Amino acid sequence: MKFFVDTADVAAIRELNDLGMVDGVTTNPSLILKSGRDIIEVTREICAMVSGPVSAEVVATDARTMISEGLALAKIAPNIAIKVPLTWDGLTACKAFASEGRMVNVTLCFSAAQAILAAKAGASFVSPFVGRLDDNNHDGIQLIEDIRTIYDNYGFKTEILAASIRSVNHITDCARIGADVITAPPAVIKAMANHVLTDKGLEQFLKDWGKTGQKIN
Ligand code: E4P
Repeated sequence: MKFFVDTADVAAIRELNDLGMVDGVTTNPSLILKSGRDIIEVTREICAMVSGPVSAEVVATDARTMISEGLALAKIAPNIAIKVPLTWDGLTACKAFASEGRMVNVTLCFSAAQAILAAKAGASFVSPFVGRLDDNNHDGIQLIEDIRTIYDNYGFKTEILAASIRSVNHITDCARIGADVITAPPAVIKAMANHVLTDKGLEQFLKDWGKTGQKIN
């Protein structure tokens, strides 16, 4: 399973990247806003740090302008994955990019039907939004499972990039189902290391160690 980090916070990406935890990065207009940085500048910095795919999102809603925006974003670095929304125009742009051999991440996917279209349009990645579905009383993890089954039924090569990940359980559920990639905020990835029994066990070991009066070096 590949780990993408869902942020445009360069320091947070660097911390995880130094540990070898980063296979790619996803950004979106809201994350660019949060970073307070210029999209081209911050994306260039991220692409120089991370060797895997870095998703940068178009903001036009018509295919023609999406294509020109996507080409501008692709100029930033060879590891850019152009991110387009799962609309008919987005699929048109996706097909155009894919025909030129460019990496495309089709985002804002909320149904299995949409995921089929993304695969047919040649997307490298489809991003189903698990958390936002859960927020709306749908089952985000069930969608990942459905897309996995459908893609496997037909040998679709598009990678399932589980997005809008809110919890450690989302990540382990996605891993169990066989999502190809998860993209999560840095805090959620770091929270994977936490376990109350680890904390409790460590506390006890340190207490007992203190009683031995020994030192290791
Ligand atoms: C995906 O690529 C999106 O950037 C992201 O996962 C959206 O997550 P959110 O629903 O927490 O905003």
